[in-house]
Amino acid sequence: MKFSLATKPVHEESAHCLVLPVTAGKQLPTVTQHVDKASGGAITAAIKAGDISTDRGHSLLIRSLKGITAERVLLVGCGKSGGLEPGHFISVLQKSGKALKSLGCGSAACYLTELPVVGRDLQWKLALAVQTLDQTAYQFTEYKSGKKKPLKLKRIALSATSETDTPVKVLKAVIETHTAIAAGVKLARDLGNRPGNDCTPTFLASEAQRLATELPLKTTVLDEQAMSKLKMDSLLSVGRGSRQESKLIIVEYQGGDTAAKPVVLVGKGVTFDAGGISLKPAAGMEEMKYDMCGAASVLGTLQAAAAANLPINLVGIVPAVENMPDGLANKPGDIVTSMSGKTIEIINTDAEGRLILADALTYAERYKPDVVIDIATLTGACIIALGHHLSAVLGNSDELIADLLGAGIDSHDRAWQLPLMEEYQQQIKSNIADISNVGGRAAGTVTAACFLSRFTEKVQWAHIDIAGTAWQSGKHKDATGRPVPLLMQYLLNRCRS
Ligand code: BES
Ligand code: MN
Ligand code: ZN
Repeated sequence: MKFSLATKPVHEESAHCLVLPVTAGKQLPTVTQHVDKASGGAITAAIKAGDISTDRGHSLLIRSLKGITAERVLLVGCGKSGGLEPGHFISVLQKSGKALKSLGCGSAACYLTELPVVGRDLQWKLALAVQTLDQTAYQFTEYKSGKKKPLKLKRIALSATSETDTPVKVLKAVIETHTAIAAGVKLARDLGNRPGNDCTPTFLASEAQRLATELPLKTTVLDEQAMSKLKMDSLLSVGRGSRQESKLIIVEYQGGDTAAKPVVLVGKGVTFDAGGISLKPAAGMEEMKYDMCGAASVLGTLQAAAAANLPINLVGIVPAVENMPDGLANKPGDIVTSMSGKTIEIINTDAEGRLILADALTYAERYKPDVVIDIATLTGACIIALGHHLSAVLGNSDELIADLLGAGIDSHDRAWQLPLMEEYQQQIKSNIADISNVGGRAAGTVTAACFLSRFTEKVQWAHIDIAGTAWQSGKHKDATGRPVPLLMQYLLNRCRS
């Protein structure tokens, strides 16, 4: 989708469809009043007649309004006048986006950004409008045979007349940056939705290599032999049960000073998680193709950071494997030696994410990072704790955690901190090796992070568990692209301070 600033007066706007807010109370939003006046009171008449409710998310399409250049006007109910909550602003945008998607028009001009949003400025509204409208327009049709219907809607202009003190240049830059973020989200969703038979470790590597041909990025791919030399046996042990070769994918972006320490992102890339010998139950197992969404979010963030020209250094590391049962697969009770030298007793082969992340996190040390953030669909327990709305954040640096939580609020891709205290470390003790790969049923998300913390002692580190937020289950199953918005916001905030 192409986004721009709406520049013409509303009655002269030539987009195929205007999206106008209607609110309850005496006065309509100013922009809607203009259209109402120009059309001889057509909107107030529609409200009076009960054709459109001002309740949030209701919408009504009117065609050929007198005095208006645009062919169609989509009226969208936005509740009471006087300020929307940020979450409500987003849900109104989603509903409008869905309505636009079903129409045949190729362009729209959206005036919802004229509404006041509690505690948020115009730049925030533009940013969220770009991301939300782009995400609602998303469709993944690659695996449908027959004639495909591409989305007609190609261009959306966003109105920004409600505030005049921010220079147009700044507003345009916001739209550009967030268009890049939206494209990063789309990449992450495409990768997540692609089935495991096609989205293999080798495919993820080829996608990372493709990015390096399109953007100022450098991609390196280590195969099993190269990882063997580095003694990454924890990672390699997981892939041994699969016919697909494991890969370690590294993508580097240098937008900052040569001397500036990079941010390193590490993303879990299990392209299918059958559980291994500790096989998962059949029901819902197909969802385990999404077990590479951490990896997808890392690639999406690198793409977005490079496309937006962020003045920072960034490294993405993706351990990519398939977790399958096989004669060579890990067995419960096996002990492996990680790249760090620490030995791990594998109690459950389904706790494979931490095994591959352990070696990837050790590998990250060579970049002398300022901070390391890993992103993983790591534990079912995270869904029990937080459901599908918020990601979990844990780590060894309060400052980094606070920054990530803040970025989650700014981007509305929210997260919640879980505790990572010494007490929990006991649960991953092994009497025969240095540590066990599981810590029992209690506090599963915390003990998984405890395990990772043993491989990040030398750096400022945070872990984001996205098991509940990276995809939507059920009939409308779909990858969400989270937490690309949070990660990009974190990087943007770093650039500002
Ligand atoms: N990929 C799963 C975690 C997961 C489960 C993500 C459900 C999304 C939805 C992970 O590899 C796993 O299997 N974790 C186990 C750990 C357990 C064996 C300690 C889990 O959460 O059950
Ligand atoms: Mn697993
Ligand atoms: Zn997994």
